[in-house]
Amino acid sequence: MKIAILPGDGIGTEIVAEAVKVLNVLDLPFETETALVGGAAYAAHGHPLPESTLALAKAADAVLFGAVGDWKYDTLERSLRPEQAILGLRKHLGLFANLRPALCYEQLTHASSLKPELVAGLDILIIRELTGDIYFGQPRGRRIAVDGHFPGAEEAFDTMRYSRPEIERIAHLAFQAARKRRGKVTSVDKANVLETFQFWKDVVTEVHAQYPDVELDHMYVDNAAMQLVKAPKKFDVVVTGNMFGDILSDEAAMLTGSIGMLPSASLDKNNKGLYEPSHGSAPDIAGQGIANPLATILSAAMMLRYTLSQPEAADRIESAVRAVLAAGLRTADIWSEGTQRVGTARMGDAVVAA
Ligand code: NAI
Ligand code: MG
Repeated sequence: MKIAILPGDGIGTEIVAEAVKVLNVLDLPFETETALVGGAAYAAHGHPLPESTLALAKAADAVLFGAVGDWKYDTLERSLRPEQAILGLRKHLGLFANLRPALCYEQLTHASSLKPELVAGLDILIIRELTGDIYFGQPRGRRIAVDGHFPGAEEAFDTMRYSRPEIERIAHLAFQAARKRRGKVTSVDKANVLETFQFWKDVVTEVHAQYPDVELDHMYVDNAAMQLVKAPKKFDVVVTGNMFGDILSDEAAMLTGSIGMLPSASLDKNNKGLYEPSHGSAPDIAGQGIANPLATILSAAMMLRYTLSQPEAADRIESAVRAVLAAGLRTADIWSEGTQRVGTARMGDAVVAA
């Protein structure tokens, strides 16, 4: 097994170093190779995603990614900005499924914007389709309207579309993920208004026939947005399209309190994938050794579970994180009265020890 390590910019290098410490202590048969990406790659090679970095990512079984971006690159033309690296990787690696668990740790329930009793024990998985939908549909553009409410006026348009294979593969992934969890999938659509999402609902229902052991229900996206803040614990796996998933995954993330705790996975059709924290490069705290490395460490656990077929090792990492939180260690973003404030490296070391 080969893991490509792409730390990137800002706190990316600090938090990835801690995840690598944790991976190394597990004594598993993998090799790692590190490469520059984002602003760091631009500074060294003049491009945020150099050929050599892309080749390494393609050849590896999994990519562990930190974060990219820095204010100092904001004046560059769009194609050279650090953020282009992550978009390029998603595209070139065919990463069509984005998995974002929203897990509320017992010790951190007070950090949520919801009442503690609503989020205590929360453990849901949002699966967002990542390469289709209205974000990529053609045609799109601007024109002079020939019909509608204002014929002759300037207008803009995008195209919402999903093909059967695109829906089938994300549905299979959702049902298989649910099997490893509490066995329930909620497919979120807008079938009452949109033909694309009536088709989505029909295809998900067909695929479900192959998973009789998994429970499936359908929910309109507006109701799903409401239920996520009303009774989030009713969900297990939520599967939806690119745009609805973009919005609902951010909503779900906030239920848990700190962005420094949230891992993510982006998978291709062979379960190869890219694993990264849900947050960015946090230039405001970069270089200070105070960033929370847990989102990245938990992303490494997802990598072991979904791509490297080492579920026991993933469990060990997740239990270690729980143990460290139970022992009262906190980085600044999750610190509260009565707990012990530690920096990035101390937190990583504590997870290694646990
Ligand atoms: P951000 O997620 O980097 O930071 C938002 C806030 O959360 C900041 O106050 C930051 O200090 C804090 N924060 C984030 N991660 C933390 C951690 N692990 N521990 C403690 N505090 C943490 O988002 P922002 O500020 O909007 O973007 C900063 C840069 O990151 C931009 O250049 C943006 O484009 C890039 N970005 C990159 C992403 C990626 O590489 N996938 C994703 C999101 C943003
Ligand atoms: Mg978003």
